[in-house]
Amino acid sequence: MLPTEKKQILDQIIASFTKEEIAWSSGYLSGFVTDHKTENKSAKLVKDLTILYITETGNSKFLAGEIAKKLKAEGAHAKLKAADQYRLADFEKEKNLIVIASTHGEGEIPAAGKKFFEHITQNELALASLSYLTIALGDTNYPLFCQSGKDIDARLEKLGAKKLAERIDLDLDFENSIPEILAQVQAAFASEKSSITTVPTTPIKSGKKNFSGKILANINLNDIGSSKETHHLEIASDDEIHYEPGDSVGILFGEDELGITEKPTPRLYSIASSTNEHGNEVHLTVSLLRYIDKDEKEVEGLFSGRLSRLKIGEKINFYISRNRQFKLPTDDKDLIMVGPGTGIAPFRSFLAERNYRNASGKNWLFFGERNFQTDFLYQSEWQAHLESGLLSKIDVAFSRDQNHKIYVQDRIKENAQEIYHWLENGAYFYVCGDKENMARDVENTLLGVIQSEGKIGADEARNYLDRLVEQDRYLKDVY
Ligand SMILES: Cc1cc2nc3c(=O)[nH]c(=O)nc-3n(C[C@H](O)[C@H](O)[C@H](O)COP(=O)(O)OP(=O)(O)OC[C@H]3O[C@@H](n4cnc5c(N)ncnc54)[C@H](O)[C@@H]3O)c2cc1C
Ligand SMILES: Cc1cc2nc3c(=O)[nH]c(=O)nc-3n(C[C@H](O)[C@H](O)[C@H](O)COP(=O)(O)O)c2cc1C
Repeated sequence: MLPTEKKQILDQIIASFTKEEIAWSSGYLSGFVTDHKTENKSAKLVKDLTILYITETGNSKFLAGEIAKKLKAEGAHAKLKAADQYRLADFEKEKNLIVIASTHGEGEIPAAGKKFFEHITQNELALASLSYLTIALGDTNYPLFCQSGKDIDARLEKLGAKKLAERIDLDLDFENSIPEILAQVQAAFASEKSSITTVPTTPIKSGKKNFSGKILANINLNDIGSSKETHHLEIASDDEIHYEPGDSVGILFGEDELGITEKPTPRLYSIASSTNEHGNEVHLTVSLLRYIDKDEKEVEGLFSGRLSRLKIGEKINFYISRNRQFKLPTDDKDLIMVGPGTGIAPFRSFLAERNYRNASGKNWLFFGERNFQTDFLYQSEWQAHLESGLLSKIDVAFSRDQNHKIYVQDRIKENAQEIYHWLENGAYFYVCGDKENMARDVENTLLGVIQSEGKIGADEARNYLDRLVEQDRYLKDVY
């Protein structure tokens, strides 16, 4: 119980709070309690531990970094490792481990964690001397919430490892809960606690924010006669909104709105705007999907169909899905952006932001679609950016304007010398859009460019590209 005056002060503060702020504060305060408890014990943290993160869009890496910082400050020797750079042969030697893993696709482990997951599931490892804690990152809008973290946690336990604390599952906006998470990690790795029990963890409320907004504009960017329909949507948010170029939004349509029985998984769309240039708005570039269903009927994609039909003034619910990897570098760096089709969306955001910041780095855009006449998305904007000098170069590939197909990767090849020169000068290379074909073809072409222009072998070219990845200079947002 609090003494009356203290309770009055607390009541006064809380009176001005929203429901969400109250929920957040309750977690924050409870984190304090654990913090106080562990503060005195901090010298007794286990000495050596490894923090292994499995990430796709950088959130797990970010959290792993925060935890490493905290544990190091407390005197622990914490090694931070990305799963795809981890020597799997060392795994059975680990003594203390924190695994931080996100879930992507539909309940899947990110590509960077596939080898690690195979290693632990396909081998009967002897992990009796391993103590561990799993932190799972996910999004409660998906039916398989935090599935990859759950799978890893269960498998490690099955292999005989000791679970130091119950798995910590985190929803999207976990950033607000970092003090609580750190307190729970510290409590788990306090060396003097009982070696038999698993420390219970308090569920962490992330205070995830869903936004509502209304449609300001919905424009079909393709001209009459096009084989495609791509909608530029402008959404005015009802609440103040924070996102960065490179982030996406998750769209939420409810069952009632669609006349279907199950709650559909959200669909993500790259943000094509920048709050600095476009205010409290979110812009999207949505390609209307059409396919032939099993009854041979042409149907529209569930979400892209619905988004394309939204009228001005209609309401829409969404949330921000942060991508900490696909981010702009400092203003002085040069960018090469490859964004055919709707892959163009984040680069409209990048350029708006760079325009606002008056960034000194050069900007080179590669765009591709089917036909020049009907499918040159945002053509007048690129024209204006070329004239203002914001865009240094634009190269376009219209696949169906001639007998043989021409794609962005062909334009990249034609510009091999200059691309290599830009890369050698520290340029950042971004790819957004189709994962299956485009991203793979662009990567192979880029490897060819590095090999021919750098006059090196295929293996060395691969190493060159790997170094770009390590330096966060080769970044993909593909789907
Ligand atoms: C990070 C990220 C960013 C993205 N950014 C964008 C963006 O900026 N712009 C954009 O347009 N999209 C973007 N997408 C893709 C988008 O999220 C959706 O996947 C896309 O709009 C299709 O969703 P839908 O509901 O319209 O289609 P769905 O209804 O989910 O259909 C998708 C496909 O599934 C198949 N399919 C589904 N049902 C059937 C059936 N009954 N029979 C046969 N085939 C079927 C079809 O091949 C169809 O093409 C992004 C995705 C990710 C992950
Ligand atoms: C394409 C896509 C699919 C996702 N699928 C799932 C899912 O099936 N289950 C889940 O819990 N979270 C899912 N998420 C949410 C991510 O796990 C969440 O954004 C997390 O913070 C990402 O962490 P990372 O940046 O370390 O990869 C998905 C996110 C994206 C972008």
